[in-house]
Amino acid sequence: MRTNYENVLLVDAGDAYQGRTEEQKRKSEVILRSMGLMGYDAFCVGESELSFGTEFLLDAAREEKLPLVCANLVYNKSGKTLVQPYVIKKFGKVKVAVIGLLDDVLVLPKAQAEYDSLVILGAIETAQQLVPQVRKKADVVVVLSHMGFAKSSKLATDVPDIDVIVTGHNPGVSMEARKEGDALVMMSGTRGQYVGCLVLNVSPEAGIGSHDSKLVPLDGRIRKHDLVESLSNEYNELEKKLRAEKVSRQKEESLARTGSDQYLSAETCKRCHEEVFQKVARMTHATAFQSLEKSNSDGLSECVICHTTGMGNPSGFGGASSPGDMKGVQCEACHGMGSRHTRDGTYGKAAQSSCVGCHTEDRSPEFSLQAYLKRIAH
Ligand code: HEC
Ligand code: HEC
Ligand code: HEC
Ligand code: HEC
Repeated sequence: MRTNYENVLLVDAGDAYQGRTEEQKRKSEVILRSMGLMGYDAFCVGESELSFGTEFLLDAAREEKLPLVCANLVYNKSGKTLVQPYVIKKFGKVKVAVIGLLDDVLVLPKAQAEYDSLVILGAIETAQQLVPQVRKKADVVVVLSHMGFAKSSKLATDVPDIDVIVTGHNPGVSMEARKEGDALVMMSGTRGQYVGCLVLNVSPEAGIGSHDSKLVPLDGRIRKHDLVESLSNEYNELEKKLRAEKVSRQKEESLARTGSDQYLSAETCKRCHEEVFQKVARMTHATAFQSLEKSNSDGLSECVICHTTGMGNPSGFGGASSPGDMKGVQCEACHGMGSRHTRDGTYGKAAQSSCVGCHTEDRSPEFSLQAYLKRIAH
């Protein structure tokens, strides 16, 4: 973009990271670092940016020079905003204001007491007050709307004079900018799948003349930034290491606990179900772990959990007493632990309800039980 266009404004509408665990915190640091390298002009605070506390967010933003914006996230007592309500960028003679807004129905993560002191003011009311003031100072008014499409379109109709709305928080994409009220609304989806590009021809005298928009998929055709790639690979290795440490802790625990149910591995099943084993080995399930290795995501617990068998159990994937190769979605991922093997029909039937644990709406949008069951018949 920066080679093709002289004046580029790079923004994010929030929920760039989230989590609770130490691993997720380290990952969030990687994300913030990467965003710092990309040189964002404005970044709206979503509720999930508060997952590790305000100090974590504010320190990282300072370090990475990320300009946080949010006009309606305020300290309860003082009424002051946590971060600046908006920023103004100058491109030649044209001034562009970027305001951040957070949906007021969202619940802030309550992990730490400090959130008791933060409240979200009415988003529409805040915009109604702020937009006319900001309008006087800028030729173009952009709102980073951390409130999904429906509410963003209400914002466009209830608050005149917003030129561009970039939506965040909810999944869903629109391949082009949609006109709602006065505003062009960009909906670029989640999980870094697309970059939304909106090209505006602006003059200080006449405002926005024409526009053009598209979503650019961040697929294999886009070369990864070397440093960002090495950061994410480093993180992949780190999480692998942290898991290995956890496993060795679990080993001691599991030695103390014998006789409980266990994963036995597909090799065990093979001994008596040779024919089934051969069929299952040809399923895409069998190579689910390779899919992660290909994208250097094989260290990330958030991915591994659905691409392996029995993760989290000492006898499952990565576990200390893991008997064999539990990579991929093997027999026991669907049928349950081998030690629970019965021949009364229940062990087979139970597998039917396993699918939805991994085939979630998010990860397997086309999933339908009957059609998918047919494809794994064995
Ligand atoms: C432990 C998680 C997990 C469970 C349980 C699971 N799957 Fe899957 N499934 C996956 C993953 C991961 C893939 C993708 C594998 C790949 O391509 O890397 C997949 C792929 C598939 C595919 C192939 C899709 C394609 O287009 O190639 C079918 C069909 C399927 N699963 C059906 C089922 C059914 C039916 C069930 C329940 C009986 C089920 N799965 C249970 C994780 C799971
Ligand atoms: C909730 C379970 C779940 C999680 C978490 C998950 N996946 Fe998957 N993944 C699936 C399922 C199910 C499929 C098969 C979808 C289908 O074909 O319907 C799949 C398919 C895939 C595929 C092969 C198909 C494709 O679209 O190219 C890749 C690659 C993949 N996942 C990578 C990842 C990565 C990387 C992560 C972590 C960021 C991840 N997955 C996290 C369940 C999951
Ligand atoms: C993706 C999930 C999944 C995987 C992986 C899987 N199965 Fe199944 N399996 C099922 C489902 C679902 C059924 C059908 C259950 C039913 O409707 O009674 C089934 C049926 C069976 C049956 C027949 C049960 C009967 O009552 O007819 C056997 C035996 C079996 N599986 C063994 C295995 C073995 C052995 C493996 C590994 C080599 C394996 N399965 C891998 C989901 C899975
Ligand atoms: C020592 C031999 C043996 C091993 C090992 C074994 N099975 Fe079986 N399994 C059987 C026999 C025998 C039956 C009942 C006859 C049949 O339906 O084929 C059976 C039935 C099943 C059924 C249908 C059960 C039902 O509820 O009706 C499933 C599912 C199954 N096995 C899965 C597995 C899986 C998964 C493994 C590996 C964890 C495994 N089996 C390991 C011998 C074995």
